[in-house]
Amino acid sequence: MLRDNIFLIGFMGAGKSSVGRRLADVLDKGFYDSDREIERRVGTAIGWIFDLEGEAGFRARERDMITELAGKKDIVLATGGGAVLDESLRKVLAERGFMVYLRASPETLSQRIGRDKTRPLLGSEQPMETVRQLLAQREALYQGLADVIVDTDELAVKDVVREIRKHHTLS
Ligand code: S3P
Repeated sequence: MLRDNIFLIGFMGAGKSSVGRRLADVLDKGFYDSDREIERRVGTAIGWIFDLEGEAGFRARERDMITELAGKKDIVLATGGGAVLDESLRKVLAERGFMVYLRASPETLSQRIGRDKTRPLLGSEQPMETVRQLLAQREALYQGLADVIVDTDELAVKDVVREIRKHHTLS
């Protein structure tokens, strides 16, 4: 594991982007959000990529983008919530950075995600049920990869950042 890189994993709504941006700021590291980088490169929103190329098309782009970003040095990377589904990506991430799982309950996640229409996997009428199902499929993957797990239900962004810094310093 490369300690200079910090990779944030966790479900949609876990706070990876807001925490990552602030963490990079206080640690003076570069910040990348894999979804935004994919959108920038393709020139269209994630929702459109899902519509045009399906989930498989998006996952292939995500794999390439995260592999590329993980090759950088001294960065904080907010990964997409489904990045951990790919075995080769799990390996790349674990090798190239300090892994932080931002964990939250399905209730908290649903509340934070709200009625966000930009996340294609949550298009159903019952996002809470969808969140529960997807989280159940992914929980072991998030945990298995994590060097540290931060429970974010009760924490503000600045508190999550403080927790990560504490564990990162001790590692
Ligand atoms: C996804 C999470 C999203 C985005 C895409 C798929 C997922 O990223 O990559 O909509 O499978 O959990 P965020 O976790 O940043 O919302």
